[in-house]
Amino acid sequence: MSGVAPLRLAVLISGNGSNLQAIIDAIAAGTLNATIVCVVSNNPDAYGLERAQQANIPTHVLNHRNYKQREDYDAALQSLLEPFQPHLIILAGFMRILSPGFVATYAGRILNIHPSLLPKYPGLNTHEQVLANGDKEHGCTVHLVTADLDQGPIIKQARLTVLTSDTLESLKQRVHSLEHTLYPQAIQQFSDQLITK
Ligand code: GAR
Repeated sequence: MSGVAPLRLAVLISGNGSNLQAIIDAIAAGTLNATIVCVVSNNPDAYGLERAQQANIPTHVLNHRNYKQREDYDAALQSLLEPFQPHLIILAGFMRILSPGFVATYAGRILNIHPSLLPKYPGLNTHEQVLANGDKEHGCTVHLVTADLDQGPIIKQARLTVLTSDTLESLKQRVHSLEHTLYPQAIQQFSDQLITK
């Protein structure tokens, strides 16, 4: 990877930001050739904002409660992101649906991590559904964002075997750990593909 300019990432969060932390750590460890140009949260209380500040990354809060229409929020988000000239928009627990206009602006350049083996279980409460259905396998997916929720092309997945002893909490934690390895790897893989195209 030496000699290749680091990919400019804008990371969008809504909460804890443990995936953001994994990306920060992978960059620091040299396993992900990228730089995070800004972190944006729709939630002013997101702990991920503190994680970003600790790493000296510029942060912005864009509170969705101040916007009546999704399109208005997304237009403001686009204006906020533009000066940072991100190559990729990284959704890391950003719990908002992006409007088709925003997705079109960054077509093929928005990645999301989702806590299921898509196409299984798009949307919310994935771990609950895995347990309720007695699934033997579970995991997480990094995919490209398109206008259809959790339906974009899959970039990389990680899987685990559901244990008979698993509870909702243990399953959630085990998937989270998988995510922290998967997301930086998937971003690097996607970036390598962009460069060789
Ligand atoms: C992660 O488990 C991520 O997969 C999920 O939110 C969590 C955020 O955790 N995202 C979605 O469900 C998106 N549909 P984090 O804030 O600790 O990274």
